[in-house]
Amino acid sequence: MTELKPARILAIESSCDETACAVIENGRALLSSVVASQMEIHARYGGVFPEVASRQHVLSIIPVVQQALSQAHLTLNDIDAIAVTQGPGLAGSLIVGMNMAKGMALALDKPIVGVNHLEGHIYSSWVYKAGEQVPAEPQFPLMALLVSGGHSELNLMTDHLTYQRLGATLDDAAGEAFDKVARLLDLPYPGGPSIQKEAEDGDPSRFNFPRAWLDGTWNFSFSGLKTSVLYEVQELKKKSNAIPVKDIAASFQRAVVDVLFKKTMNAAREYGAKEILVAGGVSANRALRQAFKGQEDFPVHIPPLSLCTDNAAMIGAAGYFRYAFGHVSEMEMDVLPAWPLS
Ligand code: KG4
Ligand code: ZN
Repeated sequence: MTELKPARILAIESSCDETACAVIENGRALLSSVVASQMEIHARYGGVFPEVASRQHVLSIIPVVQQALSQAHLTLNDIDAIAVTQGPGLAGSLIVGMNMAKGMALALDKPIVGVNHLEGHIYSSWVYKAGEQVPAEPQFPLMALLVSGGHSELNLMTDHLTYQRLGATLDDAAGEAFDKVARLLDLPYPGGPSIQKEAEDGDPSRFNFPRAWLDGTWNFSFSGLKTSVLYEVQELKKKSNAIPVKDIAASFQRAVVDVLFKKTMNAAREYGAKEILVAGGVSANRALRQAFKGQEDFPVHIPPLSLCTDNAAMIGAAGYFRYAFGHVSEMEMDVLPAWPLS
């Protein structure tokens, strides 16, 4: 690969309910990463309340940027470019980060790079903490499983910034399924970590919930599984039995992990991928991580837990490669509605 120009990027992420800023060097060495989570506020509503989220971003954005710079022992003059999440996400949340980034880029006369949030998740596997051991860099062609609150996709990545979307969810995203099933079971928001916790001492083989294999496609579907859990809970309630929350959580989690793991492995074989990459909030799931780490057919990249859920380090990594390959954005750029990238 040609040598890419070195650069220090300040990145901002505000697409949902985390206000985040990070400083990263050459797309990999993380100098600082600050995440102000609004999770406790939204937990009261059982999900993200968009208006509250954008107001909270307004309050947090300046202190978060200042903290990221001070943790990196740098000033704005030491930054080569600003990267910012352009979408997809909540418009009122995205705008706060976008305006902060545009304001800084204008005032400092530095380039600005709009980053797709999903591309950011994929690039989280390039990141390591500066000063710590440098992990192996992902090698192309790469089979990328992206599983977040809003998306579940299989993407073949043949080079930097180059994706072929093979399949996606036809209904609920994997994270969304975790969140909805958690709500059915009266578990707190966010659902993924709650289900994982309950599943730890549950019996994953007690309920044989359906797996939608959708053979012949690389798509996913989780709404049938969610409905099946709902019917099971309703039946148990009718019989006025106590709900075996732990066993339901474990059986549900196993059904999701089974499908995500097997389809990704099959896609990696079919497309001759060298390696597998797993990203997005659901990649924090212990059972999913164990499934991928337990196989020896492909080297697997899964980010550390702090980089699985939303953060700005991943936006800085993707932003660096966009910047280094000459994809600087216009100041007039607007929030970006959708993936895949054009
Ligand atoms: O990537 P992310 O932080 O935000 C989006 O871009 O959507 O993903 C959030 C999703 C939520 O649905 C959350 O329940 C899920 O990731 N999640 C998990 C776990 N931690 C977060 N799902 C399963 N197991 C986990 N440990
Ligand atoms: Zn995300």
